[in-house]
Amino acid sequence: MAIGVDLVDLRRISNPDRLAKKVLSENELKLYESRDDKVNFLGGRFAAKEAFLKALGQGLGQIPLQSIEVLYRGLNQAPYIFYQNVEYDVSISHDGDYAIAVVCI
Ligand SMILES: CC(C)(COP(=O)(O)OP(=O)(O)OC[C@H]1O[C@@H](n2cnc3c(N)ncnc32)[C@H](O)[C@@H]1OP(=O)(O)O)[C@@H](O)C(=O)NCCC(=O)NCCS
Repeated sequence: MAIGVDLVDLRRISNPDRLAKKVLSENELKLYESRDDKVNFLGGRFAAKEAFLKALGQGLGQIPLQSIEVLYRGLNQAPYIFYQNVEYDVSISHDGDYAIAVVCI
């Protein structure tokens, strides 16, 4: 098993719509558009994707972030990562100016 973690300072996201188009998949963009807390949502997605790369042992830039999807499943709408047709566990949390995510693969 490998784990990855990433912490995002939301104050560094100066242009959320531009970043969203760069890092979110089509499915995630639909979720983003429906959210009132867009910057929180985006920060959580960014943290989850970077945590996944860490767990994989890959550096930023080797895998397009849009290809790593963070979706919701089940009645309780827990998030999961969908990458190359495989599902992975992820946990995301927000408080104030920060979003954090942990991924196990
Ligand atoms: C998960 C939960 C504890 C959130 O806690 P919180 O302290 O308010 O908020 P946090 O910032 O720590 O967590 C929010 C993140 O938790 C994740 N999350 C949401 N539901 C979750 C769940 N059931 N299990 C695990 N993670 C969940 C989401 O990724 C969310 O971030 P996002 O909106 O950016 O995707 C709370 O939403 C909860 O209890 N959900 C369960 C709902 C449920 O079971 N409903 C049953 C309906 S039948």
